[in-house]
Amino acid sequence: MLFTSSFFYLYNMAEDLQIARGTKEEMYEILIPQIKALIYGEPDLVANLANIAAALKEQFGWLWVGFYLIKNEELVLGPFQGPVACTRIKKGRGVCGSSWQQAQSLIVPDVAKFPGHIACSSLSVSEIVVPIIRNNEVLGVLDVDSEKENLFDKTDQKYLEAIVQEIVF
Ligand code: SME
Repeated sequence: MLFTSSFFYLYNMAEDLQIARGTKEEMYEILIPQIKALIYGEPDLVANLANIAAALKEQFGWLWVGFYLIKNEELVLGPFQGPVACTRIKKGRGVCGSSWQQAQSLIVPDVAKFPGHIACSSLSVSEIVVPIIRNNEVLGVLDVDSEKENLFDKTDQKYLEAIVQEIVF
């Protein structure tokens, strides 16, 4: 079944995203082959990050989803979908800077309880940040925000980590 879905989506390229209904796992399982098809053969990093952010936003309807990339020892805002956001975050600051410093994914059920959380949008209540790591070096992070408390869990972490693994730098 999964193989059939993957086959279908890979051969129908991605002008139109097929939005899945079902469990969170099913949504990711249908989305990931489409993300792979979207970025396949495209060498431009910005184009690929932009399409990944758009695909995630379309499928899940989160408040904010996007990338920060490390430039001159700071996280700098990259392609995203959602409200305007802070442009620069230092290492160790906020959820994004902490994920960078710890080189690990962080799930924050309630941002009000995360010391130093950077509130780009007052609507954001829960958050997940996944670092993009190549050769033991963090190159950036994928950041997702929701208006709902405690929205993200280990399932999101597993699939978002798989998605950032697909990005070619
Ligand atoms: N909340 C993040 C900042 C980025 S915005 O959510 C887009 C943080 O604490 O690092």
